[in-house]
Order: sequence, then structure tokens, then C-alpha cells
Amino acid sequence: MTIHIGAEVGEIADTVLMPGDPYRAKWAAETFLQDAQCVNQVRGMLGYTGTWNGHRVTIQGSGMGMPSLSIYANELIKDYDVKTLIRIGSCGGMQPQVKIRDLIIAMTSTTLNTPSSGIFRELNFAPCADYGLLAAAVAAAKAQGITPHVGGIYSSDVFYDERPDLNEQMTRHGILGVEMEAAELYTLAARYGRRALAVLTVSDHLQTGEALPSQDRESSFGEMVEIALKAAFS
Ligand code: HPA
Repeated sequence: MTIHIGAEVGEIADTVLMPGDPYRAKWAAETFLQDAQCVNQVRGMLGYTGTWNGHRVTIQGSGMGMPSLSIYANELIKDYDVKTLIRIGSCGGMQPQVKIRDLIIAMTSTTLNTPSSGIFRELNFAPCADYGLLAAAVAAAKAQGITPHVGGIYSSDVFYDERPDLNEQMTRHGILGVEMEAAELYTLAARYGRRALAVLTVSDHLQTGEALPSQDRESSFGEMVEIALKAAFS
């Protein structure tokens, strides 16, 4: 047990999928895993461990934003020795060719700040995905008939953004979409020598103002879970 995760050591698998929403963790575990057991309920941040095609896997909610994700990722890595962490989440589209429902696989993430900024001081660390996981996720998506966008994303500290000028610069520099967690996940994975990836569905679009209808969110989320599982165990 840790401060934020009630599971015993051994109840968390080496591979963890991390949706932001704990109810998505429950849905994904019930839909995709065999023999899923709830291993965490602390603060309602649900986590489940089961098997997928014979591989042990945990699906643990991260909460929203990098400070929350940092708590769970730190404890998963340092206390449970998790080796592979894959974020499955949503993002806002930032390029005209990126459409609602599209899949983005994040190669890098730009930020203003992460919880790790304090240790980097003047250094602009470039958080990047594990290449093997990224290549495997691209292949898994293509095998499912999905052509993902692969490139840089923006991990923001705010959902209700008051700096449209910054978003314009991100768009101008090819950033595909905005979410709120990946950069810290990639930074922690780099620090502790683990594998990390973020697979994202475009749920809304900053330029067009469109948003994914709620009934479509579940099917897009399911596709992401499958791609993440295939990438983790390929
Ligand atoms: N901004 C930040 N995070 C997000 C968004 C967004 O528009 N959509 C989904 N996650």
C-alpha cells in the first residue's frame, strides 16, 4: 500500500494503462480484461488488475492534470516497480487536419511547466515517448484500420485556457493536440528508466469548437484500450 494506492505489492502488474477518469478504468477492465479485480479505491481513483491474452495488466485512473498523474505514476514506479505506463485519454485538436475522433500518438510533449520543473530549473527538458511502444502502437492502430497522427502534443496546466496566443504558437509549430498529463508521464519514465506512451482520442477541437458526442466517446475509448494493450505486449 502507498499513500494513494491501496493495492498490495504484487497486486499491480508490470504494465499499467492510465485513463484520466477512474470510471473509464472500471469500464476498460470490465470490457477487456479477464478476471479483473479491483485493487484500488482510495479517493475513488479506481484501479483494476486482470489479464489480457494471458498477460497481466493493471488499469489505474490517473486523475486530471499533471500533479495528479505524477502522484500515481511516482507510486506505481517507485513502490510497485511498474515497467510500462500507457496513458489512454482524450485531447483537444489543434491542427486543421486533426479531426474529432482521430487518434493521436504523442511522440513528444511541450509544456510551460510540469511538476518536475522544479528540479530542471533552467533546463528545457524534452519529454518523449518510448520509441518501441510508439512504433508498436502505430502498427496496432494501422492493423485496426486506423491511421493515427503521430507527433508533438501540448500538456497544459489548464483546461479553461486564457492564453489563446500560446495556443496559436503551438498550432504554428505543428502541435497536434492539447491534453494535461503526458509530459509528466514521459518525464518520470525517463527519470526512472521505464517505458511510457500516450495514446489520445480527439474529443474536441480548439479551432472548430466541435466536440465528440458522448455516445461516441465509449467506442473511441475502446479502440484506444485495444491499441494500448497490443502495443504493450507486442
Ligand atoms: N484542453 C485540455 N485538455 C483536454 C482538452 C482540451 O481542450 N480536451 C481533452 N483534454
